[in-house]
Amino acid sequence: MSDTPMNFAVIGCGMLARMMHVPNIAASPKTVLHTCCDLSDDALAECKDMHGALHITKDYHTAIDDPDVEAICIATTEKMRIPLIEAAAKVGKPVYCEKPLARTLEEMYEIRKIVHESNIPFCVGHNRRSSPAMIEAHRIFRRHMDTPQPCPWRYDREGANRPPIEGDGVAGMSVRINDDWYSWKAWGMCAETADYGAMLFEMTHFTDLCNWFLAGEPEEVVALESGRLNHGVVIRYRGGEIATILMVGNGTFGYPKELYEMFGQGAAVVVDHMLEVRTAGIEGAPDRITYPMLKDRHPKIGTEGGLPGWLAKKRAACKEAADAGDSSLIFTAEPDKGHAHAIDRFVDEIRGEGPVVCSVDDAVAATRVAFAAIRAAKEHRAVKLDEV
Ligand SMILES: NC(=O)c1ccc[n+]([C@@H]2O[C@H](COP(=O)([O-])OP(=O)(O)OC[C@H]3O[C@@H](n4cnc5c(N)ncnc54)[C@H](O)[C@@H]3O)[C@@H](O)[C@H]2O)c1
Repeated sequence: MSDTPMNFAVIGCGMLARMMHVPNIAASPKTVLHTCCDLSDDALAECKDMHGALHITKDYHTAIDDPDVEAICIATTEKMRIPLIEAAAKVGKPVYCEKPLARTLEEMYEIRKIVHESNIPFCVGHNRRSSPAMIEAHRIFRRHMDTPQPCPWRYDREGANRPPIEGDGVAGMSVRINDDWYSWKAWGMCAETADYGAMLFEMTHFTDLCNWFLAGEPEEVVALESGRLNHGVVIRYRGGEIATILMVGNGTFGYPKELYEMFGQGAAVVVDHMLEVRTAGIEGAPDRITYPMLKDRHPKIGTEGGLPGWLAKKRAACKEAADAGDSSLIFTAEPDKGHAHAIDRFVDEIRGEGPVVCSVDDAVAATRVAFAAIRAAKEHRAVKLDEV
């Protein structure tokens, strides 16, 4: 195990990077915020003055080629990926790249080729895989699916007369996303992104989790959408597993954004907004596990934690926001979606001390499902993954 922190250069220090990667890399004992690179003077000044970046530059070649920089974090928008990945591959440096991996299938396959040919360690920012709640839910669910323990109270009407049935035990998964589009940036809704929209820039997180939890090969996708904000997607896997993803853009930040429910082999594992994991039908698994929240401005409210604790904190924050006429006050007690852990775990992966976090092949698999869904919605038909 190496105790020496790894020098990172962050390229693209916009909203996400300055909320997550820049402070996280600066704070972690595993990493050093060596260089920040952006085109904006204001962004660079904040990285240096608030987060302690050792160097700042507007030229990504300067950042990537610096011999002291050991790893690159790409947090530009998906418009700007290939030149950065090419430059990092040329000098053999590991890359953590934000999602979505690319805007088009062609770009995505080009990135995969560059990464495979250069053999650089590569991790895509499907950070939810590194959320403590997700890691635990995945471990419990996959262990049960791979070595199911018979549940002693499972209601079994027919017993020995129960007929064999196709699909017995096969998993299914539901993902429900409650979002409020008033919070989105204008670029997410401009003509440039109209071809793909939220089904790419948001949904690859969820297709990635479906692939990961169901541990299967996606085969076919159907999808319906209305306008730019309501999407319903169904994915069928070769093993018969089914996943549904409902993304609603006219929801509210006053209620948890994400609910994941996994079922199979007579059991359920549920992840509620990465605040708590609930299980049923799995011998020996805890009924409910709660997880610490981040940036909690209301530590004395909702001390029971988990979902009820979060709701109490959120209600208090929303009241403060209404009273002050300042909607930014609604933010408090965020679930741990795994951003900081993802970078730390990638450092372990680079050093051969931890598992692969989210490889280019994992990201390609998730992104292909998203592209299949986009086509399915556009053409009003089921789209086979072989078509993309
Ligand atoms: N994983 C997550 O939870 C999550 C959340 C939000 C956004 N994202 C992803 O992160 C990425 C960035 O999103 P954002 O909202 O921060 O966008 P943003 O527009 O706020 O930031 C992008 C930054 O890249 C900079 N940039 C552009 N070209 C550059 C270049 N050639 N060299 C250096 N800097 C350059 C811009 O100046 C800007 O500051 C997107 O791909 C988005 O999908 C991920």
